Amino acid sequence: DGEKSSDVVWHQASVSHQDHCQLNGHKAAVLWFTGLSGSGKSTVANAVDLMLFQHQAKTYVLDGDNVRHGLNGDLGFSDKDRIENIRRVGEVSKLFADAGLLVSTAFISPFVADREMVRSQLPEGQFIEVFIDTPLAVCESRDPKGLYKKARAGEIKNFTGIDSAYEKPVNPEIHVQTDKKSIEACAQQVIDYLKENKYL
Ligand code: PPS
Repeated sequence: DGEKSSDVVWHQASVSHQDHCQLNGHKAAVLWFTGLSGSGKSTVANAVDLMLFQHQAKTYVLDGDNVRHGLNGDLGFSDKDRIENIRRVGEVSKLFADAGLLVSTAFISPFVADREMVRSQLPEGQFIEVFIDTPLAVCESRDPKGLYKKARAGEIKNFTGIDSAYEKPVNPEIHVQTDKKSIEACAQQVIDYLKENKYL
């Protein structure tokens, strides 16, 4: 293990969080999309991001499939690695939010404790849990990457919803049902929440 940060002093920034938000003209937050593989997290998150961009908001998307190629390229899908995946993404999204952005993260993030850990690390109101509540049977019938088929055949171990747990959010800020509405309507639901709660 390397040295811990006990001898490192925190440096106060000259440009504050409020300065960033004022320049951007909106509040910062992390829209934390969670749901099964194939539930539509990335699709809805990207639709939201496009709508926000059209509102001239400063945004960024952090997506599991992409982050696992770079920052988290050393992590697999054991419980331990998923916990570390979410811990790192939580830290990165905190930095982006501190910079004044509306960040959308799209990770399965299957464990309540890890999502609540990220929430607890962000300032009040900056963590918005968006539950992409698509039933397993629907995700499995979509199977966009053929992974459920492989998991059922035992070719992939520890697959979420098959032989690895997914803990549903208890009280998400936003509850989205992709099997009942269009992608645009789902994304609009998130935008409406941001407007109603004066983020935008
Ligand atoms: S996690 O649980 O939050 O750490 O997962 P995440 O970083 O979001 O990565 C999920 C994507 O990785 C692919 N994949 C798997 N998912 C679940 N379980 C196993 N074992 C697995 N192996 C690979 C899968 O394509 C997920 O993509 P999404 O976009 O969620 O469908």
